[in-house]
Amino acid sequence: MKTSIQVSIVGGSGALGSGLAYRLAKAGHSVAIGSRSSEKAAEAADALNRRLGGNKVTGMTNVEAAAQGEIVFLTVPFASHGATLEEIKEEVQGKIVVDVTVPLVPPRVARVTLPPNGSAAVTAQLVLGDGVRVVSAFHNVAATHLHDDEHEHECDVMVFGNDKAARDCILALSQEMGLKAWHGGAIDNSVMAESLTSVLIFINKNYGIDGAGIRITGRPNS
Ligand SMILES: NC(=O)c1ccc[n+]([C@@H]2O[C@H](COP(=O)([O-])OP(=O)(O)OC[C@H]3O[C@@H](n4cnc5c(N)ncnc54)[C@H](OP(=O)(O)O)[C@@H]3O)[C@@H](O)[C@H]2O)c1
Repeated sequence: MKTSIQVSIVGGSGALGSGLAYRLAKAGHSVAIGSRSSEKAAEAADALNRRLGGNKVTGMTNVEAAAQGEIVFLTVPFASHGATLEEIKEEVQGKIVVDVTVPLVPPRVARVTLPPNGSAAVTAQLVLGDGVRVVSAFHNVAATHLHDDEHEHECDVMVFGNDKAARDCILALSQEMGLKAWHGGAIDNSVMAESLTSVLIFINKNYGIDGAGIRITGRPNS
């Protein structure tokens, strides 16, 4: 991604969405934070602009953000995933939607629970239709790391989706955000990363870790 683009984050006022917004704006992109409340979105955008210095981040409603973004991230709790997809469906036609939703079912978030369609990402592709290139990624990246400027980021990103060019685009964005990303294959493979999040939550609790992650080994020689 050589030039600055307009990226939107539906549900961007939350922990993960604001972390992605921070990294994307820091990489030079314009970022719209979407929320159910335009006031809450504006507050979240102001907080990031104060931190970054500048005005790269703006706040608006989820539907406005979905309409504005060239690439639209979705970072909402699974309980609101289906309703939010329906809400933004029209605005995201023809675009890449990056679904970060993990199908967690509180309170048992450390146990893998999968939705009827197999995964959140497959559900998103079914709901949004073939006019939208759904990419799923960042499921295993803890929000705390995205907000952390002091330590090296040690969690790789796996990127899934049926369109390779769309995956390439998100790999490039990830790199700009300081994250190493890997093609993980078709959208059907997203179930693996979505499931792994519950395992990482279990590891966090069991070992007292703040944001366990994964790293792919066996990198090719450069
Ligand atoms: N946190 C992490 O470290 C992490 C890591 C990997 C993946 N994820 C996944 O990423 C997604 C977002 O995680 P998060 O921790 O950022 O979640 P969160 O803070 O609980 O929620 C994100 C945003 O979703 C919106 N939201 C909450 N309830 C909603 C509802 N009923 N309908 C519509 N919107 C609602 C809220 O925005 P408004 O109130 O402004 O509308 C909230 O700020 C989840 O699916 C999570 O599993 C999280």
